[in-house]
Amino acid sequence: MEEKKLIEAFEWLHRHPELATQELETTAYLREALSRHGVRLLDTGLETGLIAEIGTGEGPVIALRADIDALPVCEQTGLPYASLRPGVMHACGHDFHAACMLGAALLLKERETALPGTVKVIFQPAEEVNQGAALMIATGLLDDVQLFFAGHTYPWYEAGTLGVRPGPVMASADRFSVKLTGKGCHAGHPEAGVDPIVALAAIVTAAQTIVSRRVNPFDSAVVSVTRVAAGNTWNVTPETAELEGTVRSMSEDVRNDIQRRLEALAKDTARAFGCAADFEYERGPAPLLNDAGVCRRVAALAREQGFTVAENPPTMIAEDFSGYLKIAPGVMLRVGTGGGWDNHHPRFTADPAVLAPAARFFAALAERELKYLKSQAAR
Ligand code: NI
Repeated sequence: MEEKKLIEAFEWLHRHPELATQELETTAYLREALSRHGVRLLDTGLETGLIAEIGTGEGPVIALRADIDALPVCEQTGLPYASLRPGVMHACGHDFHAACMLGAALLLKERETALPGTVKVIFQPAEEVNQGAALMIATGLLDDVQLFFAGHTYPWYEAGTLGVRPGPVMASADRFSVKLTGKGCHAGHPEAGVDPIVALAAIVTAAQTIVSRRVNPFDSAVVSVTRVAAGNTWNVTPETAELEGTVRSMSEDVRNDIQRRLEALAKDTARAFGCAADFEYERGPAPLLNDAGVCRRVAALAREQGFTVAENPPTMIAEDFSGYLKIAPGVMLRVGTGGGWDNHHPRFTADPAVLAPAARFFAALAERELKYLKSQAAR
């Protein structure tokens, strides 16, 4: 696929953003572009998202993953190909990811007879709501994948730079909530009730000690209470109070420990204040760990292809790409796309000039890694 066509695809996707789970036109567009070039599509049974397959249909198997959903953001880029849908925008560069992996898929298709195995190219829906990876994994079509790769737009690196960092790069992101039940009363007669607000305040304060006193200083974690709600006037002590927040960590051990600690702290503090506590903990994406050995090979190839390689800093934001890494190891790269506005900002942009080199890089990476796995299997 020539560069002009690739940029056209990117601009079309940018003009037609669709929210998580609603990526019907995006899916149709990608399906058409792949089918037109004779790329096989696997039957996922899903309404949105695609898995393309290129190569022998036999092992070794490598997957390249793009996410395809947009965000409920009002675009302010002023680009000639800005979103045609008010209030919906590709503000995280998933249009770039989709176009880039489309380009990689078509390059691999041209080299299909030379591939010593199979490449599955995943166009995943619903990343922004942390559902898409689980949907793709549940198809069972990725069970045989031995290595997963993805790239993510990164506005803090200029075009031509790739971020490759071994080890933990992105956090787990879990949601917790506590609902406290006391006993409502006249605010002038506190002795007649059980005030859930005082218990809630104690829990909020005590929760801050989890990171400072419980987590090993060499580990990273976040415990943030982000919403509190109680009462509706000044002279009535309410019956209930609730809070909600998030836990982030870079390892499963720390994550498990914080969950246990938070639950005990909420329940025991509530009891000390005479309240009942309803504690909920919902797990989101797992921490994302880049395989160190694979990172070395990725960085070497990136340099060979003329990219500057940088070790991007880790972040406490989460990505459901970590779900695939429970099947097999892999690497998520940062693709420098310039712009200087953060992902999810209404002015976020991704430099289209990076598309062609990034597509070539991922195609070469897939082919190179297939050869590597083949040679390992032969040993
Ligand atoms: Ni994103």
